[in-house]
Amino acid sequence: MAATPPQLWLRCEKKEFERRAALTPTTAKKLIDAGFEIFVERDEQRIFDDAEYEKVGCKLVENNSWPSAPTTMPIIGLKELPESDDPIAHTHIQFAHCYKRQAGWSKVLSRFHRGGGSLYDLEFLTDASGRRVAAFGFHAGFAGAAAGALAFAVQKKNDGTRLGKLEPYENEAAMVKSVREALGGSGKGVKALVIGALGRCGRGAVDLFRKIGLDEDDIVKWDMDETAKGGPFQEILDVDIFVNCIYLSSAIPPFLSHEQIRAAGTSRRLSVVVDVSCDTTNPFNPIPIYNINTTFSKPTVDVDVGPGNAPMTVVSIDHLPTLLPREASEQFSSDLLPSLMEFPARSEKRVWTDAQSLFEQKLGEAVKEEGL
Ligand SMILES: NC(=O)c1ccc[n+]([C@@H]2O[C@H](COP(=O)([O-])OP(=O)(O)OC[C@H]3O[C@@H](n4cnc5c(N)ncnc54)[C@H](O)[C@@H]3O)[C@@H](O)[C@H]2O)c1
Repeated sequence: MAATPPQLWLRCEKKEFERRAALTPTTAKKLIDAGFEIFVERDEQRIFDDAEYEKVGCKLVENNSWPSAPTTMPIIGLKELPESDDPIAHTHIQFAHCYKRQAGWSKVLSRFHRGGGSLYDLEFLTDASGRRVAAFGFHAGFAGAAAGALAFAVQKKNDGTRLGKLEPYENEAAMVKSVREALGGSGKGVKALVIGALGRCGRGAVDLFRKIGLDEDDIVKWDMDETAKGGPFQEILDVDIFVNCIYLSSAIPPFLSHEQIRAAGTSRRLSVVVDVSCDTTNPFNPIPIYNINTTFSKPTVDVDVGPGNAPMTVVSIDHLPTLLPREASEQFSSDLLPSLMEFPARSEKRVWTDAQSLFEQKLGEAVKEEGL
């Protein structure tokens, strides 16, 4: 009898508005070509049609049917599972958001404890130098810069209106086209500053600004060297759109402050801040001029700028890649692919053994917390 091929089961996403997928038809095909058997739950919410998976040889299965799959079947998805007390017996590869003591963390992990299942959290799959093997940063920066440019276009009219609801775009070209149109055909003449420009999100933001037509000189790119002198920075007030893309790892002086904005009065050019980093509730938030995360329904929050001054808003959406589900999924999934190829040998491949050890450590902490 032929040996069972390695298998993976792509589950549907249950989170509202989530159209991204951990496996795309492109990466599924590569896995199939390498000998995998890939099951895909039918999912109307996903940006990729079921037929696209079927065409490359995936086996389509019913929506949300993974709980009845054999427990030896590894299940892959992106976002956390819906809240429940049901024990989990399968091995899951996903973002579970329960390793940093987030609300409900021990309850989530206790489901694995009770069911005997395992979790490989995508946020903690790292390469030999500790860098994540796959992350959504680039498209977060790209989409964040687009949201900032759209907000800027609305505020420029100076009629008191603000950017309305944002919806996921079919693809990157559609997003670029819509931003260009909002700016009257091109972003030429708009000036932007990106901090963290050498990182994943920062590179995405710079790419969007290029694609909508800003002159290269009007895309100011800062990283560690430029902020070393310590904020607040006048340079930020001298652009139309500021995009913060830093990875905050320690206390730093603020990049902007209320006092600085009020003192600048009518001389300020800055109209929109996009805080891609979204360290909103972090005590070291370098942009302490707002305190909520904004949403796709209401993308901006107004900053208190003092009477008589032009408005200024902040975009602080913490799930920006959802706006570009197709490209964000393709990039994430192709970055994850080399690790998935190693999954059948997970008991010896470092990326997976490290993730397994971390799971066991967190599971132990949860068992203690829950008194199990
Ligand atoms: N809003 C969203 O939807 C969303 C999505 C993905 C990631 N993020 C967040 O975006 C942030 C950046 O993620 P990333 O993957 O691009 O990280 P990254 O590590 O690839 O890049 C961060 C960059 O910031 C720079 N940096 C760090 N501190 C700085 C400072 N004080 N001054 C100037 N530059 C500084 C680093 O040198 C690096 O180039 C993270 O906090 C991440 O959680 C948000």
